[in-house]
Amino acid sequence: MAEPAPEEQAPHAPAVARPFVVLGVSAGIAAYKAVEVCRRLVDAGVHVAPVLTANATRFVGRATFDALGSEPSQTSVWDEASPLPHTRLGQAADVVLVAPATADLLARYAAGLADDLLTTTLVATAAPVVVCPAMHTEMWDHPAVRENLAVLVRRGVTVVPPGEGRLAGGDVGTGRMAEPADIVDAVLGLLRPRASRPPDGLAGVRVLVTSGGTREPIDPVRFITNRSSGKQGHALAAAARRHGAEVVLVTASPLAPPAGVEVVAVETAAEMEAAVLARAAEADVVVMAAAVADFRPKEAGTTKLHKADGVPELVLEPTTDILAELGRRRRPGQVLVGFAAETDAVEERARSKLVAKRIDLVVANDVGAPGAGFEHDTNAVTILGADGSVTAVPLASKVRVAEAVLARVGALLSPG
Ligand code: CTP
Repeated sequence: MAEPAPEEQAPHAPAVARPFVVLGVSAGIAAYKAVEVCRRLVDAGVHVAPVLTANATRFVGRATFDALGSEPSQTSVWDEASPLPHTRLGQAADVVLVAPATADLLARYAAGLADDLLTTTLVATAAPVVVCPAMHTEMWDHPAVRENLAVLVRRGVTVVPPGEGRLAGGDVGTGRMAEPADIVDAVLGLLRPRASRPPDGLAGVRVLVTSGGTREPIDPVRFITNRSSGKQGHALAAAARRHGAEVVLVTASPLAPPAGVEVVAVETAAEMEAAVLARAAEADVVVMAAAVADFRPKEAGTTKLHKADGVPELVLEPTTDILAELGRRRRPGQVLVGFAAETDAVEERARSKLVAKRIDLVVANDVGAPGAGFEHDTNAVTILGADGSVTAVPLASKVRVAEAVLARVGALLSPG
């Protein structure tokens, strides 16, 4: 294809140096939420180039994206009267966002297919890519979808995972596309290193995050654990990464870890203790979001216990309080953050942990409140500081809660 004359490039080369985001929309019912994503990105000062797959236009018409985007939407490499090189959008993009990303789109991208404008753009870009999967729970749980996502995560693609809720056809389950505000946060976080960094920027800061609930074996087939999913810890690791931190995630969670972070998978409190203590001296910030078991069976059976042998008597012993140990070992300037998952006297109990463990911030989490705490995609917390600061974060996505915690961490790292 011939290189177009400069004036023909105009719609695809924003006149002002605004960040350039390609908004890819594939064919899912959540395409209607992509309209809101488009509007919010434009409001945030981003130049948005909408690219729809042919079938996406069955859900939302191109006219909507034409009106709200920064330039006319496109669906095909052959759209233009004077066709532009099919790689131009991918080359120009600062971020390529796909919302919603269907199982089919993820498969085609993972396989490197370039059979329409959106997949061509994805294959042609060197910019960060963000995908927001949306599909029925059965499809989200299918090994093919999981493996395709794992491939993309390994290649550095950021996944904004779906949440729970009502799906097309009235079904309820996991697979509902993330909320537009969280998707926009993820994109803006990736754009920031190029544009102005916010005052709480974490570039070069080494952040150690823990997540998930540990498992303490009773015998080779049984264990004691808790309801922690790891979602809040993963959201913290992802947000710290977006703000430019070097992130190590020590995790006991089965969830796919966020892109761009070093992952240390552990199972027991003892393994988490070893992994955290080995790395803590090098960390500028440690966020203990994991629900570490406080007790473990004193002796785990080496072979399976059987009913015929009678009811086993479980003798428990305490685990090491990792956070308290970090409080004892802290080096000057290091910021330590703990969580207090409570059901009663939440702030009072949280505040006493702040003092007892000698930490800087405690995130008081009323896990009994509706929509907050374990397993939910949302949370409501109060962040208490050893300096007396109190920051209430009303019910919001765990992504937003993570941003609020990191804002407090940022303020402690660079006071004033
Ligand atoms: N924590 C830890 N090591 C443990 C237990 C907890 O590092 N063995 C951390 C958690 O990651 C969290 C905080 O300490 O940041 C929770 O404090 P904790 O006092 O253990 O709370 P609970 O487990 O609820 O225990 P308690 O019965 O004392 O309230």
